Amino acid sequence: MYTDIHSHVIWGVDDGAETKEETFRMLREAVADGIGTIICTPHITPGIYAFPEEKFQDNYSAANAWIKENDLPLKLYQGAEILFTDATPQMLRDKRIPSMAGSRYILVEFSPAEKMAVIMDALQQITATGYLPIIAHLERYSNIRTTDQVREIKERFQAMIQINARSLFRRQPLLRRRFFSGLFQEGLVDFIATDTHAAPGRESCMSKGMEALRRQFGAGTADAIERRPYGVILKNLSDKMIASFSNG
Ligand SMILES: [Fe+2]
Repeated sequence: MYTDIHSHVIWGVDDGAETKEETFRMLREAVADGIGTIICTPHITPGIYAFPEEKFQDNYSAANAWIKENDLPLKLYQGAEILFTDATPQMLRDKRIPSMAGSRYILVEFSPAEKMAVIMDALQQITATGYLPIIAHLERYSNIRTTDQVREIKERFQAMIQINARSLFRRQPLLRRRFFSGLFQEGLVDFIATDTHAAPGRESCMSKGMEALRRQFGAGTADAIERRPYGVILKNLSDKMIASFSNG
């Protein structure tokens, strides 16, 4: 069973699902796609757009109730995909943004053309709050294109790296393919996730992405990634030090 750490499955809170029917369809599709755990990660843009937190809680609860009623083998957690803004560090300190499944990790994204120096500074600011970053769809950033850059990011900020499943089977320019190859060969990728939205072409595609990963980079690489989400994020939930951090 896969763990999908990036999903816009909860309706009415961002550009993902618009209606509960869409959410329910997406939940069924996730199960059919081999997913057993989803961290629901709506877009949050701190200080720029108000996040409808109450609606998220209500709709998240309704989705869970529906899963129970329909006896679906699926476990949901809360998270967010945070676009880094000037207001992000303070909102993290104030605990006004959901972390990933209550852990010490947050899922963060940047504008696709953001400068490397700006990204490094943002990561520094995030770690200073006590949270650790998971970088959403790393392949999207035009200024991160070498494995040396990625290694530096991981080492300096204890960051983890997420790549979209779709990017593994979609046609990619040669340079991007080489970059991917380096990332996987050097073991720099932590998560493959769907980044699923309700719109056609953005549906759940975890198994297709994992198949492509297996084909291109070998079963060992795919297996290591498949095991990782449970090992890292969810384990943090029971980590004493992390628990005291979240409560404090
Ligand atoms: Fe996303």
